[in-house]
Amino acid sequence: MIINRRREEFPTLASGIHLLSHSLGPAPRVTRDSMLAYYDAWEHHTSEDAWAASWWEMSTAVGDLIAKIIGGASGSVQIQPNASIGLSTVASCFDFQSSERNKIVTTALDFPSMQYVWDAQEKVGATVEVVHSDDGVSISTDEIVDAIDDSTALVALSHVSFRSSNRIDVAPIVERAHKHGALVLLDIYQSAGAMELQASVWQVDFLIGGTIKWLCGGPACGYLYVRPELQSELQPRLTGWVAHNAPFDFAEPPMRYAESVRRFAQGTPSIPALYSVMPGLQIIEEVGVKTIRAESERRTQAMIDFALEHGWKVNSPRDVNQRGGSVMIYVEDGPTMVKRLAERKVFVDCRPGVGLRMSPHFFNTDEEVREAMEILAELM
Ligand SMILES: Cc1ncc(COP(=O)(O)O)c(C=O)c1O
Repeated sequence: MIINRRREEFPTLASGIHLLSHSLGPAPRVTRDSMLAYYDAWEHHTSEDAWAASWWEMSTAVGDLIAKIIGGASGSVQIQPNASIGLSTVASCFDFQSSERNKIVTTALDFPSMQYVWDAQEKVGATVEVVHSDDGVSISTDEIVDAIDDSTALVALSHVSFRSSNRIDVAPIVERAHKHGALVLLDIYQSAGAMELQASVWQVDFLIGGTIKWLCGGPACGYLYVRPELQSELQPRLTGWVAHNAPFDFAEPPMRYAESVRRFAQGTPSIPALYSVMPGLQIIEEVGVKTIRAESERRTQAMIDFALEHGWKVNSPRDVNQRGGSVMIYVEDGPTMVKRLAERKVFVDCRPGVGLRMSPHFFNTDEEVREAMEILAELM
């Protein structure tokens, strides 16, 4: 496949082999211009009202671009300060205390915020069931499905695990949850921008994620997708004036939530964050998540084959249909290996228990990926 890797658009790539898309994607060169445009608009605000000219509409524009990338309809995504706040916004829509339906189903492979946020809801009447992982790498879909019953309020899981790159099978989980009257939230932080997602087709209720990793948007913002038909039924208690139907009325309470997905906003949007994410999102949208995934499948497989040929322990699923865009390779002393690889200009990271996390994205060349594996073989 001929793919435009657009390498010259990412200055950082000249400094080594960047395999960190599960953590912090490289900065697109145009983001510098975008940030300067933010400063110019701010500086000229008194003569040209920046809020009226563009700032007020920017959250919607960025939300719609994210919606497009994740297969959702326009008007389905509200920008959040980060994914954890997106999650807490969803949590604040439930009243666990006065309902028999108060169980949250999560898994042992989710990002810690998931556990922290749901554990905190136990104080207000929720019960949390964590589906375990036998090997610390994968989770049985059957066990997740079996945990869902008539007392389940929400199934909240990572689509792709930050720990092992395990990818769950969405359809049977959504089907079972909806059959039992429960809602489903997926954390797509490790899959959005790395593969094709089908928010609308899945009929999933909530998606949370952020821009820092595969979306090349930097540590800027998170986002929350809410299934369009569900939006008007929810009244998040984590809220603020921007979520009001007519925010500029500065009306007396009670709160009247916006008719749109803006009802899941809180206060003033972080405008510099929006300027900083736009260029990366546009690049991902232009390259196309289908192309990105095809490249990823081929390269992660080659990395796994290389690792197995060398007798290394791979802590990611072997089956491409159960895998995200990263490959985890066990090493004895992760932090030291990360440092030694960085000395050889190979940039990866590690997590306790699983070892190295290595993530090729569309901008990496095949030669780079191979070279990184060969350098690792020298150091092992
Ligand atoms: C799967 C996943 N979810 C959530 C987070 C945290 O998101 P935030 O810092 O925006 O709350 C991360 C990584 O930082 C992650 O990998």
